[in-house]
Amino acid sequence: MATPTTLTITRPDDWHLHLRDGAALAVVLPASARQFGRAVVMPNLRPPVTSTALALAYRERILAARPAGSDFEPLMTLYLTDNTPPDEIGRARAAGIQALKFYPAGATTNSDAGVTDLRKTYRTLEAMQREGLPLLVHGEVTDPAVDVFDREAVFIDRHLIPLRRDLPELKIVFEHVTTREGAAYVLGADGPIGATVTPQHLLYNRNAIFTGGLQPHFYCLPVLKAEAHRQALVAAATSGSPRFFLGTDSAPHAAHLKEHAGGHAGCYTALAALELYAEAFEAAGALDRLDAFAGRHGAAFYGLPVNAGTVTLVREAWTVPEALPFGAARLKPLRGGGTLTWRLKEG
Ligand code: DOR
Ligand code: ZN
Repeated sequence: MATPTTLTITRPDDWHLHLRDGAALAVVLPASARQFGRAVVMPNLRPPVTSTALALAYRERILAARPAGSDFEPLMTLYLTDNTPPDEIGRARAAGIQALKFYPAGATTNSDAGVTDLRKTYRTLEAMQREGLPLLVHGEVTDPAVDVFDREAVFIDRHLIPLRRDLPELKIVFEHVTTREGAAYVLGADGPIGATVTPQHLLYNRNAIFTGGLQPHFYCLPVLKAEAHRQALVAAATSGSPRFFLGTDSAPHAAHLKEHAGGHAGCYTALAALELYAEAFEAAGALDRLDAFAGRHGAAFYGLPVNAGTVTLVREAWTVPEALPFGAARLKPLRGGGTLTWRLKEG
């Protein structure tokens, strides 16, 4: 088969995105709006988006930051806490909120207000199960006795399996799955479960963090894993299983806050997200599977229509900018200064 020079796919969605707020929102939103029709917007602002009212106000700020003419649609989420009232779920559903995000307290950026014990939230989760509102899971234990690289696998045994036994009809998205164990669990489980996969976990293994000195721009949570895990994720994402869908977890931080002691976790991938995924799918010989992974599986899981329209990628080498202005700071995208072989066509 001849090497394709263009690839036209259904206009895709990003099922896991950090847009931030204020000046940062204004910088990063245009890139996502250019690439995607919709995005599931994470609620880990400071303070977190814990109520329908806060989510609707945040939605208005996002809509106001859209470039002229953009019809990009933010899909809003609430931040689950130990105290999210069960009756918030009906309000959320009625207002078009799409999901609640479960951060184990302390697991990652702005997760201090997260859940300390899932059982405290069961009445709220029961309401979500009734309403069909998905729970988006950051699947890592925070137990300091558990090795950082094992935290996802241990989470499955300690928390995910008991949760799904207690609430078998609750829709769950295993966000940014990073391990062989996570991918195998999602593929093999009964009932309504899906998983998002990031571009960095498809393209890189943990060596990237430690090659040529410490590389803070490859530091995200869950952290990059060993090569065997990366290969398992590529196999899952390109398998054609509708349980796996695109979620960048694009998480912008000012460069100086990543390049210092205690550097922040998160890779800014939104700038060239589709190009990065296309590279991963092409390396696996599965470019023909990108359309469904990026544009169909997530919509089906959430019960939303597939976007109208298409986007086109062309085979054209280009250099990703090393850094972008980010308010008074700078933002360094993943692959910044490096080249990509696919390029999203304008318009
Ligand atoms: O690397 C990450 N960054 N992982 C997360 O879970 C949160 C995110 C952020 O908000 O910066
Ligand atoms: Zn995230």
